[in-house]
Amino acid sequence: MADARHRLPLRLAIMDAARILAAAGVPSARVDAEMIAAHVMGVDRMKLPMVPLVDPQVVDEVGRLVRQRARRIPLQHLTGWAAMGTVVLEVGPGVFVPRPETELLLEWGIAQLRDVARPVVVDLCTGSGALALAFAAARPDAVVHAVESEPSALAWARRNADNRTKVGDSPIRLHSGDVTESDLLSELDGAVDLVLCNPPYVPDGTPVPPEVAEHDPARAVFAGADGLDVIRHVVGCAARLLRNGGFVAIEHDDSQGVSVPALLAARHVLGEVTGHLDLVGRPRFATARRN
Ligand SMILES: C[S@@+](CC[C@H](N)C(=O)[O-])C[C@H]1O[C@@H](n2cnc3c(N)ncnc32)[C@H](O)[C@@H]1O
Repeated sequence: MADARHRLPLRLAIMDAARILAAAGVPSARVDAEMIAAHVMGVDRMKLPMVPLVDPQVVDEVGRLVRQRARRIPLQHLTGWAAMGTVVLEVGPGVFVPRPETELLLEWGIAQLRDVARPVVVDLCTGSGALALAFAAARPDAVVHAVESEPSALAWARRNADNRTKVGDSPIRLHSGDVTESDLLSELDGAVDLVLCNPPYVPDGTPVPPEVAEHDPARAVFAGADGLDVIRHVVGCAARLLRNGGFVAIEHDDSQGVSVPALLAARHVLGEVTGHLDLVGRPRFATARRN
């Protein structure tokens, strides 16, 4: 620790950082500045007001990370983590950063299976393992399968799955697979209680922020001219895997609030097709139930 006379107010360092990030066009600049400071200090962001003065080295390290964030490197790549439900996942280059809006899909899925003992759950397009691991943490009695096609994402999912097993969660079953394969997980045909999926769904050519364009893998984001190339297969796969009365939930782009429910409704074995809005009222995910 530096001599007390050389210690600096953290509050001023955060204000500087927020100004630099705002000038670089970073949305939620103040929150990101605080998250970076909390990461460097190793404290929860809410505890920052309890840290009035810091060593100059802390201010230097905050400045170093802020300069990287100003180059639009995702905050989560700098801190190394993102959250889903009660689970903290390691993330970085080569895997999609889980988004807060996907929590809605998770909560819906957990609520549907409240009265189902030892449910079988499949997370298609698992990325870092976010939905599968968050579900397994919420329901230790569930048998959770997770599928991912990209080796780099699968490596992050494996690391996260191992981390969760070490802290006592039920292990998930991780599969290298592609939702376009007609026999994917065919051993589970008609036996699955819930299919969750946050697939790539952005129409090709849609402008996206630099954090997405340069750091999320393209195959995690874009899915053909209408963004539905992967979702079409997910719908077919879910219809095949679900038991009678089983549920499916698929996240989608806000432009797909009609098209994704229509894809679900076109499957005669699926009913109760429902569109769901996010917290700001945009279409965000669609659900259905096998008749
Ligand atoms: C939008 S990311 C979502 C990841 C994770 N579900 C989440 O919410 O953070 C979509 C994931 O689907 C994977 N993916 C893309 N096409 C796929 C396919 N045909 N089969 C399996 N996984 C696929 C991508 O590699 C990426 O990890």
